Amino acid sequence: MREMIHFSFSFLGSNNMSLRTAQIRLVSSHPEVYEPCDDSFALVDALLADRINLLEHRPMLCMEVGCGSGYVITSLALMLEQEVPWAHYIATDINPRAVEVTRKTLEAHGVCAELINTDIASGLEKRLAGLVDVMVVNPPYVPTPEDEVGREGIASAWAGGENGRSVIDKILPIADKLLSKTGWLYLVTLTTNDPSQICLQMREKGYAARIVVQRSTEEENLHIIKFWRDFDIQMEAKETVPVNKTAPVGVMDTLLSQVHRLSLWISGNNSSN
Ligand SMILES: C[S@@+](CC[C@H](N)C(=O)[O-])C[C@H]1O[C@@H](n2cnc3c(N)ncnc32)[C@H](O)[C@@H]1O
Repeated sequence: MREMIHFSFSFLGSNNMSLRTAQIRLVSSHPEVYEPCDDSFALVDALLADRINLLEHRPMLCMEVGCGSGYVITSLALMLEQEVPWAHYIATDINPRAVEVTRKTLEAHGVCAELINTDIASGLEKRLAGLVDVMVVNPPYVPTPEDEVGREGIASAWAGGENGRSVIDKILPIADKLLSKTGWLYLVTLTTNDPSQICLQMREKGYAARIVVQRSTEEENLHIIKFWRDFDIQMEAKETVPVNKTAPVGVMDTLLSQVHRLSLWISGNNSSN
């Protein structure tokens, strides 16, 4: 049993008084479970940076895909518990050890989530279709040989296949099915995952995107991207020529440059999202 303080944060109320200081302790670990790292911290920082919007969003159902140690889902539940006490939390992981560790992390912090050992959201699609208001994902994104993806144990925490996109590309259409009409997705990506192309892919499904946190470490350049359905983009997606291999190169280039500009938005722009 280990006790490590990974971070602390405080929430300010309208009177600028600290409402609660939460400390996420790693009360349990397992050699096959991903320990919170720069990517996990960047994701929680993005949620904290967006906390006011999250509170106004008043989510009923929050979901994490790939919960690992439980650091992110526990942080999210603590972040929202006072103002959004009705929110229900669901977390999945393909690694059964991760589910066990997450259970202990949640318990140690006095918050609850439904935990499911499954591949992304397998078996939950019908039950959760169109119901998830907030989805958070720190996927396996490291470029690896394809045959390393989905292996048992700790390798499943990082092995992302070609360009690190194998698992991400499976998650995106599932997220689209599970997210509610006003649902938000927070996704961790690396530059090598081609975040602009991910934004383009999501734009074709009617989602706007912005980078909430961008962070360079010695090893990687992380982007935490927030996606949400945008009415104008949904209309545009219906009207525009589907982008496929036969789309003229010029159309593709224009879209990619638009998405590149879009993905360079930084938090603090005038959008409420
Ligand atoms: C980079 S770790 C992130 C862990 C934790 N969310 C965090 O931020 O510290 C990725 C997690 O996704 C899980 N995972 C990998 N492939 C998955 C899949 N197909 N379905 C569900 N979980 C998966 C791994 O077991 C691992 O716990």
